[in-house]
Amino acid sequence: MKVIIESKEKANKLAAEQYVKLLNSKPDCVLGLATGSTPLGLYAELIRLNKEGIISFSKCSSFNLDEYIGLDGTHDQSYRYFMNTNLFDHVDIRKDHTFVPSGSCKSDEEAALYDEAIEKAGGVDLQLLGIGHNGHIGFNEPLTPFESKTHIEKLTDSTREANKRFFASIDEVPTHAITMGIGTIMKSKIIILVAFGEDKAEIMKKTIEGKPTISVPASLLQLHTDVTVYLDPEAASLLS
Ligand code: PGA
Repeated sequence: MKVIIESKEKANKLAAEQYVKLLNSKPDCVLGLATGSTPLGLYAELIRLNKEGIISFSKCSSFNLDEYIGLDGTHDQSYRYFMNTNLFDHVDIRKDHTFVPSGSCKSDEEAALYDEAIEKAGGVDLQLLGIGHNGHIGFNEPLTPFESKTHIEKLTDSTREANKRFFASIDEVPTHAITMGIGTIMKSKIIILVAFGEDKAEIMKKTIEGKPTISVPASLLQLHTDVTVYLDPEAASLLS
């Protein structure tokens, strides 16, 4: 794992450079995208680069990590809605080339078809990840199997608690999500993980310096050959 510690602003700019490099060398690349508050600064940077003509998304396609079960794409807390409003509506990507797992998915068999779609598109070239306080990547909560494909995951109480800030009350936070599996994520050619803030310091120490274990899903990224982790000094504060 390559670890880069910079201010939030600089980290977003450096991460954006990986997109510039990829989109300019392989315009029809496949992007793996993430939601949450962490990628917002990076998305703002990508929008700026697109408006300035430095990058184009017109030939690429994208696959998002996850979606809440029970929310359709028009719900303002759905991840489809998040992606439209925070990235897709502001860049030249073709909406019909953007994929978000379906919140109406009913079974793991149906969910696994998402992996087939990713493979048919050529596989993810660059996967963006945030991280949960329990080490989840996508919505792969601790103990999700290493080989897992896209599947339905029961959200832990701590994840629902962390995400309740976006809903009127905890009762409205969905109990399940559909998420790319750890195995799906590990197949990406290049991975970027971004974490900011002191509240991510403890999990980043476990992720980077702990033994790879399914108890801390993000620590499994140590087993991937091309991962860059972007941290601000607060998120990196417990690293030795
Ligand atoms: P955050 O969420 O970016 O809002 O901190 C990250 C995650 O839970 O994966």
